[in-house]
Amino acid sequence: MKAYRASLLYFSPTAEPHHAGLYEDDGLLVVGVNAQGREVVQAVGAYGDLKARFAQVPITHWPGRIIAPGFVDLHSHYPQTNVMGSPADGLLPWLEHYTFPEEKRFAAPEYCVEAARFFIAELLRNGVTTALTFSTSHVCSVDALFHEAKARQLRLITGLCLMDRHAPADLLNQKAVSGHADATEQSLLDSEALIARWHGVDRLGYAITPRFAPTSTDAQLRGAGELAAKYPQVWIQSHVAENQAEVAWSRSLFPGSSSYLATYADFGLMRQRAIYAHCIHLSDSDRALMRDTGAAAAVCPTSNLFLGSGSFDYAGADRAGFRYGLANDVGGGTSFSPFHTMLGAYYVGREGHSKAGLSLSPQHLWWQHTVGAAKALGLDGTVGNLQPGCEADFVVLNPQATPLLTRKTAIATSLDELLFSMIVLGDDRLVERTVISQNL
Ligand code: GUN
Ligand code: ZN
Repeated sequence: MKAYRASLLYFSPTAEPHHAGLYEDDGLLVVGVNAQGREVVQAVGAYGDLKARFAQVPITHWPGRIIAPGFVDLHSHYPQTNVMGSPADGLLPWLEHYTFPEEKRFAAPEYCVEAARFFIAELLRNGVTTALTFSTSHVCSVDALFHEAKARQLRLITGLCLMDRHAPADLLNQKAVSGHADATEQSLLDSEALIARWHGVDRLGYAITPRFAPTSTDAQLRGAGELAAKYPQVWIQSHVAENQAEVAWSRSLFPGSSSYLATYADFGLMRQRAIYAHCIHLSDSDRALMRDTGAAAAVCPTSNLFLGSGSFDYAGADRAGFRYGLANDVGGGTSFSPFHTMLGAYYVGREGHSKAGLSLSPQHLWWQHTVGAAKALGLDGTVGNLQPGCEADFVVLNPQATPLLTRKTAIATSLDELLFSMIVLGDDRLVERTVISQNL
């Protein structure tokens, strides 16, 4: 066992509102090892309350620092680091002019390895310890990312990007050179082989990954849905209702479905552990479908602001009662930093659907990037919090990381003020270290 003494931020599993934060000015985080040999939280609370019980445990003391749960990111594209900051009129031209050309480069295994290394290092530097991310349509891109995540012991979920139409020919899923299966069948065989190779290895998980309905044929979506039924523990990830032109395109390609979102349900792709990025242009019946199927939304504020896609409707989501959490959506997104993503979410709430705008509380913003995102993945109680039993992934924040942060956090008189200072003024400099639960 080992223990860490510092200020502590975490969340109660029972408090109401459900996203209320708990804060210990002088706290103790005790880490033990579970039956599988994985480091997990043993106890958390005030140093004064716990010190006698754990008197024999060696303590690392970080005065002036804040320990908080590692961030959970629900949606990004590891092959799009180089696409960040590429302007376009909107989603579809951005895909065509910047994203597809970059993703083609992942046909080369060595390119995948370098990009995977950079991406994972950047997540960790920014305090992200669990990530659901897209790879490309090349099997080697998936293998490279899983290899790197395994080496760094990151909790990572990814999958082969399924696209068998409406993208450049050399980016569509390919036939095997010597095989009999057509490209669509091959993409499903490859996905199943990748599930066998990676899902459940250490902390890795597989996600069945149709890019979005317009770039898959009916046959590919049907096959993806069959895989999702066969492997209920595997995740599903895709995009939906990000942009009006995309919505219109999808509706024209799948006229038999009652909405763009319903297309996924019609192919068996909405269930628990299905994460849909964006979910902006939804109707109330779509929101009810999200809730009833147990699917969850990855809210991508910096991407939505950058590409002019629209605003996630927080009030609508809460009214319907479906799950959601935050995501950086690199490379439509403009930052790897969870602080920038939380600030983007605040702007989206302010400018969003309700007439007066919402002022999302900093505790709610932080919850969306930790416990809320973990719940969306079906991993609450495992990651995203520092409750006993959670994997011991955490960040150590330095509220004196910059002169402005030092000045502003020093005058905070409440938890909300402290958290808002960090959300508004923070970035990677705030994250002094990221600690990953080890498998001993
Ligand atoms: N919709 C389909 N593909 C993509 C992508 O790569 N990024 C975003 N933001 N939306 C998409
Ligand atoms: Zn995306």
